[in-house]
Amino acid sequence: MAIRRLPETVTHRIAAGEVIERPASVVKELLENSLDAGASRVTVRIVQGGTLSIVVEDDGAGILPEELPLAVERFATSKLFDIDDLERITTLGFRGEALSSIASVSRFEVRSRPASKTEGAFIRVEGGQFIGSGTIETPKGTRVQVDDLFFNLPARRKFLKSSSAEQRRILKVVQEMAIVFPAVSFLFVADGKSVFRWEGGTRREILQAVLGESRLRETRYEKGPVIVEAWRGTARPGQRTEVLSFVNGRRVTEPTIRSALFALGPEIAGDWVILVDCPPADVDVNIHPAKAEVRFRNSGTVFEAVHGAAKAALAFGAELVLEKPQPSEGFSSEGGGLNLPWPRVAAPTEAEVGRLVEYPAGDFPGSAPKTAAVRFLGHVSEGFLVFSEGNDLVLVDPHAAHERILYDRLREAMKNRFPSQRLGMKTELSPSLAAGAEEHRFRLLELGFGFEQKHGLVPSLTAVPFFPGLESVSPEDLLRSTIAALDENPEQPLDIRLARRWASAACHGAMKLGDRVGSEEALALWHQLFETEGPRTCPHGRPTFLRLGGSAIKRHFGRKG
Ligand SMILES: Nc1ncnc2c1ncn2[C@@H]1O[C@H](COP(=O)(O)OP(=O)(O)OP(=O)(O)O)[C@@H](O)[C@H]1O
Ligand SMILES: [Mg+2]
Repeated sequence: MAIRRLPETVTHRIAAGEVIERPASVVKELLENSLDAGASRVTVRIVQGGTLSIVVEDDGAGILPEELPLAVERFATSKLFDIDDLERITTLGFRGEALSSIASVSRFEVRSRPASKTEGAFIRVEGGQFIGSGTIETPKGTRVQVDDLFFNLPARRKFLKSSSAEQRRILKVVQEMAIVFPAVSFLFVADGKSVFRWEGGTRREILQAVLGESRLRETRYEKGPVIVEAWRGTARPGQRTEVLSFVNGRRVTEPTIRSALFALGPEIAGDWVILVDCPPADVDVNIHPAKAEVRFRNSGTVFEAVHGAAKAALAFGAELVLEKPQPSEGFSSEGGGLNLPWPRVAAPTEAEVGRLVEYPAGDFPGSAPKTAAVRFLGHVSEGFLVFSEGNDLVLVDPHAAHERILYDRLREAMKNRFPSQRLGMKTELSPSLAAGAEEHRFRLLELGFGFEQKHGLVPSLTAVPFFPGLESVSPEDLLRSTIAALDENPEQPLDIRLARRWASAACHGAMKLGDRVGSEEALALWHQLFETEGPRTCPHGRPTFLRLGGSAIKRHFGRKG
């Protein structure tokens, strides 16, 4: 048979099949683009498991109208200039292939408007053929619509599973993105029903939501330039071991990570989420068409870092056993060898704290004499603050503590009234935020929000409630968290729901674990925390501190008295 050159439309469609395997791959690529564009809110809507329609909308940077045709062209990207850039890649996309691949196997439209433009633009492509383009009124950001996926690749269409199976895969993709970018809000709507809604929060919160776990243990481990964050959930005893691994924000399957974990033996049973962060130059991300695999330059270091993190997380698990108050004998040294999960204590010594783990119920500072002298000793490597109070050693999570303090202050301030503050600059609302604002309009006005709506346009925000402590929260975030509170279970009083949401919004921007605070600040935090009504937990129920009682310390070292 004669050898012929295939027409480009055919080669392109064949190549597209490698990148776009099913509806979930479309959603993955579109979400990656939205996150690369710095979106803070992303909505995914699908019909019939994504086979009929997929719409992904974001409030990110947008695409300039004149660049729109390039965005859907093959090998056109804003993320890579020359081959060396591959060594420095910090975006999720880099090949300039995704949109053109999707457009070659579907009926496809992109609408986009960067903030700098008053008018947006659209482009339509069907099966790789240009259909039309023009200007369009559209909110800031990008909206991509993909209809009739694989309409021109019938063989591939046949391989798709049922709508519900495809939908489950898409849900997984959305949730995995939310795990990597917990601060971003995600909404996933399937056939008109909201399936997954994440209003933004911390990694712990998203993992609790996705894994249905309240007892998650987190450890971080650094080995040279490699940082590993490992989370372990053990809510389902006897279950299989499930591992979700991410490398530099990408969900990947990578044998090193799994083998480092499995090398620890059957003890590891449970859900694991492992996030590896390493210099871009040390990973090759360009080895799989859907970017689902990576290769490490120095897999030994990665192995050790994952191994170390997982080992520490296992030690954490053992500690959990002692969470129930023990008989007065306290700590038993049998089966010892536990290492505390925080690898270094910055002060006062480098000494191993060893197996010292106990939570006797009466040992919480809520009940401790306030007269005992408190000293700030330093930070452990993950940013927890270390204090001594009398003979006790106390670790404080500054983030949770700060959230508790702010929550109590807000509750107190709300007893009076809801003062309103006019915004110097009006803020135009995104469509989803505008919809929420519309739904709760009257309550929001009562709470001190102000809106202005010109005929036919999206409303703008003109005023927000004003409380000390909320200065760092953007007007949109304040509105978003208020709507979330209004949407919440009405069994709880509104001021509690509001204070909780607002305190977490304010704490996102404020002090985080890992920030270095000075001694004065640390002591102020301590005193403010223990003046609150519920110093033991943050408003979401996470512990604010861990106390290692002086008597338990003595017992551990076999000292008398
Ligand atoms: N949601 C979006 N917001 C802003 N710009 C976007 C968005 N989606 C695509 N773009 C622009 O279009 C270009 C092409 O996107 P496409 O996904 O095809 O390629 P890529 O992301 O650069 O690489 P990859 O093929 O690895 O995903 C991007 O480089 C980006 O400039
Ligand atoms: Mg992309």
